[in-house]
Amino acid sequence: MRYSHTATIMEQPAKTPASSSELFCRNCMKETQEVEAEEVEGCVPKWLEGRVTRNGPGMTKVGITHYDHLFDSLAMLHQFLRSDSYTKNTQANRIVATELGTVGYPDPCKTMFHYLVTTFFKLPVPANVMSDNCLVNVCQAKDQMFALTETCFLRRVDPESLDTFEKKEDISNYVAVNMATAHPHIEPDGTVYNLGSSFSLINGPELRIVRFPEGKLEGASVVGTASSRWRAALPYVHSFAMTENYWVVGEQPLVLSLGKMLRQYVTLSKMINALTWLPDENLRFIVIDRKTGKPLPTTYTAPPIILFHHINAWEEDGHLVIPDSRPCRLVLPLKVTAEEAMEKQHFTLKDTLYTAVRKENGELHCTPALLSPVVFELPRINYLRNGLPYRYTYGVTGGSEVFFQRLVKLDVETGKTWYFQEEGYVAAEPIFLNDSRYVALVVLNAKNMSQLARVQFTAEGDVTYPFHGQFVDPREEVHLY
Ligand SMILES: [Fe+2]
Repeated sequence: MRYSHTATIMEQPAKTPASSSELFCRNCMKETQEVEAEEVEGCVPKWLEGRVTRNGPGMTKVGITHYDHLFDSLAMLHQFLRSDSYTKNTQANRIVATELGTVGYPDPCKTMFHYLVTTFFKLPVPANVMSDNCLVNVCQAKDQMFALTETCFLRRVDPESLDTFEKKEDISNYVAVNMATAHPHIEPDGTVYNLGSSFSLINGPELRIVRFPEGKLEGASVVGTASSRWRAALPYVHSFAMTENYWVVGEQPLVLSLGKMLRQYVTLSKMINALTWLPDENLRFIVIDRKTGKPLPTTYTAPPIILFHHINAWEEDGHLVIPDSRPCRLVLPLKVTAEEAMEKQHFTLKDTLYTAVRKENGELHCTPALLSPVVFELPRINYLRNGLPYRYTYGVTGGSEVFFQRLVKLDVETGKTWYFQEEGYVAAEPIFLNDSRYVALVVLNAKNMSQLARVQFTAEGDVTYPFHGQFVDPREEVHLY
């Protein structure tokens, strides 16, 4: 049996990394173009057909230089993304392209700050220096696949060969946003929505929902806009949620301070140093009406947390339900009037008590309900339930040695959990496929998290940890997450 290099590859011998940092410091120097399956256990379900493409950090060192931050490593979709960053670095045999937390050598003048300053302040500094090292996620709604990161750039790749298209795509050439998240949503008809951000001296920072017909850049348009609460800072938003009638954006108190950005620009320092946590600010939810493209007049807040990955959100009985991976559940009353909020601070939804307090400044402050003490990350659901009530979510959680050691399934109603763990292996982001779990090349039964099949490979280079991925069934016309 032969597998193409689009398959996830796991290494031998099976030895669990000593720590999470050891796992994420792995450095792949050699791609595995084609591999032989060495060992096949169990039986892959007959209905299961398709390919998994994952994206994440691959090369953490170039020559004698190394990256200072996990999010900077050169992108690997099980073969390296031929980004400008990759090409420049490998040709120079050192890191010369600047990333989020690593300033490249030897041209410190061309930092990411120049891009940001160019973009946001329109100053006459060299453009086109923002990184195209798209290492976070992939998106293939129909026939076009893109590797994504959180800058203005995305790289189109051949879904079968993973070869990188020569043309580097700049989203700001298609639609009025400066950058976009790496977590778009895909509708059943193939329409893609993503959250972009923009800045102008008149409007300040704005969050914008962008629509991509059939997942293509051509024809992209802004369909929703909301102002940030800060005038001198860009909110960092990693993902957002989408329901039938709303887009939900969690504006966390983690920002790129414009003042610090300018200071970093002058001192030629790392962009990540401009990221600022505002401990006295709350988490704010911006709920944008999909019909009008405008935010609801109510300002919803919650205690401050870092909200990295939205699991899902749905509408229920006049409320918006938003679970997160702590795991907690926030419920926002959508139709409560100012008078009602003053009189009635507690409400129930499905026998669970929630609190929403109207503050003097008019904000509706909502208290989350804890679902389970198990903290997990890289949450996924049955994407057919995206925006709808759902029962189960899947992710990775800590084992005895490293955080990403166990797969977890969580009942978001009862808090009950199930686990899958194999000694010597770490767990990557699970992808839900109808009735089964497909994790790397381990196929699990989603009902009880038992193993249906496992295929083991030996790669030629170190096996690095991926961030996100997508399963594509060639028999389907539209590919969802
Ligand atoms: Fe992510």
